[in-house]
Amino acid sequence: MQIVVVGGGPGGLYFSLLTKKARPDWDIRVYEQNRADDTFGFGVVFSDDTLDEFLSRDPESYEGIRNNFAYWDDIVIRYKGQEMRCGGNGFAGCSRVSLLNLLHDRCRELGVELHFEAPIDATRLQETFPEADMILAADGIGSAIREHYRSQFNPQFELRQNKFCWMGSTRPLDAFHYFFRETAHGIVIAHTYQYQPGMSTWVIETDKACWQAHGFADCTEAQSAAKLEEIFAEELDDHPLLINRSVWRNFPRIFCEKWYHDNIVILGDAKASAHFSIGSGTKLAMECAIALSDAVLEHGESDVQRAFAQYDDTRRTPVQITQHNADVSLAWFEHVHRSFDMKPMQFAMVVMSRSKSITYDNLIVRDASFIDKVDTEFYETHFETTGFDCRATRPTPMFTPIRFRDMVVNNRVVMSPMAQYSADDGVPADWHFVHYGSHSLGGAGLMFVEMTCTSPDARITTGCTGLWNDAQEAAWKRIVDFVHANSDTRICMQLGHAGRKGSTQLGWETPDHPMAEGNWPVYSASALPYLEGISQTPIAMDAAQMRQVREDFVAATIRADRAGFDMLELHAAHGYLLASFLSPLTNRRDDAYGGSIDNRLRYPLEVFSAMREVWPAPKPMSVRISATDWKAGGITEADYVAAAAAFAEAGCDLIDVSAGQTVPDQQPVYGRMFQAQFAEAIRNVVGIRTIAVGAVTSPEQVNTLVACRRADLVALARPHLWNPYFAHQAAALYDTAGGNWPKQYLAGRDQAHREFVRAREKTMELQQKAKPSSHRN
Ligand SMILES: Cc1cc2nc3c(=O)[nH]c(=O)nc-3n(C[C@H](O)[C@H](O)[C@H](O)COP(=O)(O)OP(=O)(O)OC[C@H]3O[C@@H](n4cnc5c(N)ncnc54)[C@H](O)[C@@H]3O)c2cc1C
Ligand SMILES: Cc1cc2nc3c(=O)[nH]c(=O)nc-3n(C[C@H](O)[C@H](O)[C@H](O)COP(=O)(O)O)c2cc1C
Repeated sequence: MQIVVVGGGPGGLYFSLLTKKARPDWDIRVYEQNRADDTFGFGVVFSDDTLDEFLSRDPESYEGIRNNFAYWDDIVIRYKGQEMRCGGNGFAGCSRVSLLNLLHDRCRELGVELHFEAPIDATRLQETFPEADMILAADGIGSAIREHYRSQFNPQFELRQNKFCWMGSTRPLDAFHYFFRETAHGIVIAHTYQYQPGMSTWVIETDKACWQAHGFADCTEAQSAAKLEEIFAEELDDHPLLINRSVWRNFPRIFCEKWYHDNIVILGDAKASAHFSIGSGTKLAMECAIALSDAVLEHGESDVQRAFAQYDDTRRTPVQITQHNADVSLAWFEHVHRSFDMKPMQFAMVVMSRSKSITYDNLIVRDASFIDKVDTEFYETHFETTGFDCRATRPTPMFTPIRFRDMVVNNRVVMSPMAQYSADDGVPADWHFVHYGSHSLGGAGLMFVEMTCTSPDARITTGCTGLWNDAQEAAWKRIVDFVHANSDTRICMQLGHAGRKGSTQLGWETPDHPMAEGNWPVYSASALPYLEGISQTPIAMDAAQMRQVREDFVAATIRADRAGFDMLELHAAHGYLLASFLSPLTNRRDDAYGGSIDNRLRYPLEVFSAMREVWPAPKPMSVRISATDWKAGGITEADYVAAAAAFAEAGCDLIDVSAGQTVPDQQPVYGRMFQAQFAEAIRNVVGIRTIAVGAVTSPEQVNTLVACRRADLVALARPHLWNPYFAHQAAALYDTAGGNWPKQYLAGRDQAHREFVRAREKTMELQQKAKPSSHRN
């Protein structure tokens, strides 16, 4: 087999050596435009896990890498004159030139042909190598091959906002250090690590405004280094910053839709880039090289296309996960100023868990003393700001109480509102009594009831609950009374109007589709049907209809108070009536209720204010919004920040931050805690308290979100459908005392604590054992 590799970076070289090692009879040639000893940049970094993978693939190059690497376990965060250290992380750094040199040596040893100073013309690739069975495009982030075959590889390309440059220094560092410096013009960050004795990489990053104000735009590399030496004078400790093609750039986020075309396959940075803040570019390139080599060795000789398909199949998801983590991480660095009022340990906790893959529990395994300090500071702050003293009991952040007006919630776990589609004429049934009753025994601090409608034609389905008559009010009161008599769980009514998504089938039939018969007219901000050709076209509301709906909300609010609810939420999310006013995708009005965000907010605010007026002042209110429509042209960050601020101003205590369901062709980006960044933005920018929701499934995630101030409360919907005891179980897991167990179940509580503590200890022990051994040992 004849294989041509364009690009002698880590990706191309590692593929070549692994493949040649297994098939010495194959002809593998690498073409690299630079000289063998040219190198740009400074060091590269790998985690312990990646090194272990290298060991299993090629012990010889692993040994070479190992002998050249500097190792460390700690991550240090320097912020506002304080230094926070978190151990147990396991990383290795080496100079890029050493890595390339040892890969060159290993390639030569195995018989790979290396051609240096051999630039390949991407436009004549197949003519240049007519004999090649396979051509590997490993030509890096600026890949000319990718660009020439744009329509085949279909790359998505996005330049990120921050400016960054790679520099080096002679400053010795015993850990990976993040240095955060507040300057007169903004925050400048240095991501730094030592990669060989006396040499460290310094990646400098800042936002565009700060970069411009410092005049970096007009600086030579040397002038930039001189300015940065002043900014990081203390951190550099009299060591210089070194330059080597250290130009300021914006990070290009690249992802190729297709990974192969004819006999050409693409790898590494050329195919998908990963932001430097998670240090994974080289790792990603080398891991893809492993998978491609495996696939080519298995099928290449008989069927190259099959080999490429297998490579695509095995690597697509891991690459997307790494890129997603990198995206979340880089977005945090772009918004670092939003966390800059934090106390040091909380800030350090946010830095450590910014990409959401490292959680509160992971950090206990890595370095229990770090979480101890995070908790201590959290309880201190909580005591100072709320008067709740958890300093001695240390229940973990999720089990600290919180007050909203006169309502105290005992912990941060919320059962999210979930429609049950089981009401008869809007009256909650036996199902609801048992469902909410049993959930109130499960320990959540706050429980929402489902979206309850303010009039018969406000319902989504005929099974939705309502609150427009006495029978409904009485049935709700019976439920609320049970909850209050038997638990400390607070109970919140969610009032809503379905708008254009009304008059549809039950949740387990064909949701969002009209009923076979008995449909009622539906209303919305504009006359746009939800499902084109399927849904009814809604009536665009006039002033009288808007007044009537507002009055219905007010009447239901008075009933909710009489039924004894502790809290009230206005549902302005998920494309229902009030959300249809907020989103530009569904609001096309040209009156005072359409157009700018101020106008689109006007009606939801009028409804909220009218409700707030009759809802008792000691009781809190929240508003649920969709912070994105997951579709271009929809709600923006400026919109949801303006909405949150306006509701706060109107007396809202809490924003329940959901997302999507505005339009059927939404394109959500799913993942663990995938909506939490919106709650975090509102919490940190507007300052109002938030509920985060969406794919939160474990106590450690709740603890991470609360400890990092991404939200004050954390709502779980689907997990509560199969486990009403989520909160009690979490308390048992962390062996947290208290908890509002009903007296009838106390014997079960003690057993649960024993069982879960034991299970947790076992898991932690396994995780400790599974940790790669520290290279210092
Ligand atoms: C300064 C710097 C520092 C970095 N530090 C880190 C780090 O600390 N940790 C980390 O994980 N990642 C780091 N990265 C990212 C990392 O280098 C890349 O993610 C990684 O090298 C990707 O490997 P690759 O093989 O895909 O591409 P590259 O390493 O970019 O290799 C591509 C090669 O193709 C050659 N080439 C391009 N076009 C042609 C052509 N037409 N003909 C012949 N040859 C061609 C180039 O000269 C280059 O040598 C850094 C990147 C830079 C620029
Ligand atoms: C069966 C079901 C019914 C729901 N009904 C409502 C509702 O009535 N009101 C509402 O605001 N959200 C409703 N939601 C959305 C949830 O409250 C929550 O935002 C969403 O499921 C994401 O959380 P999760 O990942 O924990 O499930 C419902 C979700 C489910 C699964």
